[in-house]
Amino acid sequence: MDEPIVCRCEEVTVSEVKRAIVEGYDTLEELKRHLRVGMGPCQGRTCLPLLAWILAQETGKSLKEVMVEVSVRPPLIPVPFELWREG
Ligand code: FES
Repeated sequence: MDEPIVCRCEEVTVSEVKRAIVEGYDTLEELKRHLRVGMGPCQGRTCLPLLAWILAQETGKSLKEVMVEVSVRPPLIPVPFELWREG
């Protein structure tokens, strides 16, 4: 696959993102849910900014307008087992 990747965790390409926008998924939240971008182990640290940039370019919106539309959740962090023991 020689195509540029937007989300490495979910293996989503730039053309898949552009196609989804044409199909009507024109908010970050809709793109996330449709393509699973940002739902991999890294929780979108690198791909969500890229996705926002592509969406802004394709829709003519500003990056600020696009970013308002997304809910970002903090990444899961492993908790040491000792924290759960009593005493
Ligand atoms: S690169 Fe997209 S969730 Fe990790």
